[in-house]
Amino acid sequence: METRIKLQILNILLFTISTTLVSSSDLSVNFYAMTCPAAEFMVRNTVRSASSDDPTLPGKLLRLLFHDCMVEGCDASVLLEGSGTERSDPANTSLGGFSVVESAKRVLEIFCPGIVSCADVLALAARDAVEFAGGPVVQIPTGRRDGTVSAASNVRPNTVDTSFTMKQMMDLFSSKGLSLDDLVTLSGAHTIGSAHCSAFSDRFQEDPKGNLRPIDTSLDKDYATELTKKCPAGASSSITVSNDPATSSLFDNQYYRNLLAHKGLFQSDSLLVADGRTRGPVENFANDQVSFFDRWAESFLKLSSVGVKTGEEGEIRIVCSKTNG
Ligand code: HEM
Repeated sequence: METRIKLQILNILLFTISTTLVSSSDLSVNFYAMTCPAAEFMVRNTVRSASSDDPTLPGKLLRLLFHDCMVEGCDASVLLEGSGTERSDPANTSLGGFSVVESAKRVLEIFCPGIVSCADVLALAARDAVEFAGGPVVQIPTGRRDGTVSAASNVRPNTVDTSFTMKQMMDLFSSKGLSLDDLVTLSGAHTIGSAHCSAFSDRFQEDPKGNLRPIDTSLDKDYATELTKKCPAGASSSITVSNDPATSSLFDNQYYRNLLAHKGLFQSDSLLVADGRTRGPVENFANDQVSFFDRWAESFLKLSSVGVKTGEEGEIRIVCSKTNG
């Protein structure tokens, strides 16, 4: 056989072996380089135009990924519709951003049918959302497969609650392979987005005159008053307040500055500054945005890899809200 042809065959063999190894074992950067080279670009464009129309979307997409990854791993199980699915659980009713993931996937189905998983679309969309909100640019590997299991009963045991103690948060994070440092870093997500009054109403109690008073006296007084004005007793369930009132749509280190000023919105946020184990990193991030961004890149990579399905596991959904079967 001619040497040139032998070399060509060898090249093809090597390529096949390397792509098989990559796709069957783990996630990899540029996973879609051969099968759908414009995948990341298409997700990015959809997120960019949706976020410029609606600045609340970056926060929604980031939280959606977090809630997906904590239950059954980052496998888009949170996107499945139907009674008894994760999405139907009351703990997930305030989630948003579904339509952005679904429309990015629709575009991908036109150009690369059956190739790009909804789990990857969601991870990429959350990554891009952070960047469009002014946060760090993070390269993430792809190759996630979509799960076929989504049960509401799995949501509560795997979801953090604002009433959690530090130990409860640490235990849940560590069960997902996330450290205490990851907890401090990923909580920085609360530098964007908003919360419903009910998410922090447990921090206040009604006095005999019907006014709300903070239970935690360390909460900044002016901030507490501001919150009770926006969310008085009996406030409508649709009212929201910014997680970070100072720079609400900007992904920056303001969240940590707020914590040090005793202006953490949730009880669980306040714990990060009260606990000796986490106060150090909070102070560091409050003083040094570069250090927060560097650590964010690492922790986001870990979060978006929790319990991923790869290779032959799961499936590549055609429509993100339902399994193929
Ligand atoms: C560690 C414990 C955490 C607790 C207890 C917690 C709790 C909450 C709650 C109660 C809300 C308000 C939901 C609402 O009322 O609409 C919220 C919002 C949000 N959370 Fe967390 N969270 C935690 C960690 C995280 C992490 C790790 C991320 C992402 C990496 C994240 C991202 C967000 C975002 C972006 C929002 C705003 C959502 C929006 O604007 O729609 N959170 N969180």
